[in-house]
Amino acid sequence: MALTPPENRLWWKEPLHRMEIVWISIAFLWGLFMFFVMIYWHVVGDQNLSNEAYRIDKAKFVERTEAMAEKYKVREVGDTGVPVVKPPPGSEVYMVGRQFEWWPVLELQKGKSYRLHLSAADVQHGFSLQPENINLQIHPGYEMVITVTPTRTGTFGVVCNEYCGLGHHQMTGRIIVVDK
Ligand code: CUA
Repeated sequence: MALTPPENRLWWKEPLHRMEIVWISIAFLWGLFMFFVMIYWHVVGDQNLSNEAYRIDKAKFVERTEAMAEKYKVREVGDTGVPVVKPPPGSEVYMVGRQFEWWPVLELQKGKSYRLHLSAADVQHGFSLQPENINLQIHPGYEMVITVTPTRTGTFGVVCNEYCGLGHHQMTGRIIVVDK
């Protein structure tokens, strides 16, 4: 820590050492390269999603999710009371993240498109679809809308990947994809 001013008051005006300018240039070019790779990945990669985001009242989002769940519920997961909801293809489907679950369980049809709305009811959560490795950061007060078209059947896990409280490690959900 310098308590007194440097001896040479114009210390910052000294010419750069060659090594320093080389490192600055490498870092700068690498940064530029990674910036364009980001755009490249968006176009050719499978992980960076094109999504829309809108402001939405937390309570309103929960309300819409519950209304959809009530309307299209087909059964429950065992005796957990968690509804399995099968909305018609092409419809608006909702999934809410809250301490500590992704709710409800969705059942979608392979090859059909849905508008999937994701939001949080309390704090920030993560939406990580496994094993597809699709990741989204979900904030309360905002909804993410993505158009999904499942390409294969099976049961897919949803894991929360943003620390959201004591039950974070138990926060999961499920999306089931069926043929019909
Ligand atoms: Cu929700 Cu971690």
